[in-house]
Amino acid sequence: MNAAEYKAITDYVFHSCGIVLGDDKEYLVKQRLAPVLPLLGYKDLSELAQALMRGAVSFVIREKVVNAMTTNETSWFRDGHPFDTFRDKILPDLFALVRDRKNRQWQRRGPKVSIWSVAASTGQEAYSIGILIADAIRLKGMGTVLMEDFGILGTDISSDVLSKAMQGKYSIIDIGRGLPRAMCDRYFTLNGDSYYVNEEIRKLMDFKLLNIQEPFTQVGGFDVIFCRNLLIYFTNEAKKKILSQFFQILAPNGYLMLGSAENIYSLNDDFKTERYGATTLYRKP
Ligand SMILES: C[S@@+](CC[C@H](N)C(=O)[O-])C[C@H]1O[C@@H](n2cnc3c(N)ncnc32)[C@H](O)[C@@H]1O
Repeated sequence: MNAAEYKAITDYVFHSCGIVLGDDKEYLVKQRLAPVLPLLGYKDLSELAQALMRGAVSFVIREKVVNAMTTNETSWFRDGHPFDTFRDKILPDLFALVRDRKNRQWQRRGPKVSIWSVAASTGQEAYSIGILIADAIRLKGMGTVLMEDFGILGTDISSDVLSKAMQGKYSIIDIGRGLPRAMCDRYFTLNGDSYYVNEEIRKLMDFKLLNIQEPFTQVGGFDVIFCRNLLIYFTNEAKKKILSQFFQILAPNGYLMLGSAENIYSLNDDFKTERYGATTLYRKP
């Protein structure tokens, strides 16, 4: 693959999903795309690049390239402290919100509180949130806050990871990556070699394919947005657009949580920053 062909591939990835691949990422492009080339019908990367330059690629090829080039690394309760913060600081607010919204005359149907896991990958983030909600309802719901008062939307651009998230089926190795034993016993069922998320948690979930680079304010309003370990892949211009849409669709006092290595410094002035333990929270005033 020559320099022009490498550029054709990285430009294509950038325009398809916003991921920036610098000149130092050729090894990554080769490593990720080589296994899918036979499925795409190309003998090597040069041939794929030539097809991209001619604009002669189908939706199926786009999907396979995006699936291969996205980094889907995730785990249960990733980084620990953001989920402690969700349990100890955010959930009590959400319980109060549920009770308050139930008391209003205009009470809307369906979930009273909505949470969005923006880059859901294989689902561990969204299910971790669901597990904390279920635990809190067992301890503090007192019959007034119920599972059906919560809705969790999980979205991702990769159809491969999303189908795993929808299945809610995990191997013992997946489970070993951060899921406490007691939670596994409470919320999963072992069938053969796989652990299945129980219906009690699954019924909170809705998973959808979504490219966050496209305008998304129509996905609805949210009280909490988890957008963790996604913005790092994008340009500052894209981050600004995404953050301003998050601001629009968050409810007043709503929370935005980013990954531990991400921040909104010099990208958005609308959010109010709050610290809770080791976690930085961004709130809509
Ligand atoms: C590193 S994972 C993060 C998973 C999870 N949020 C976490 O922190 O553990 C990043 C996810 O972002 C998804 N992604 C990449 N580009 C995207 C885009 N343009 N729109 C939506 N999702 C995207 C990838 O498919 C991948 O599953």
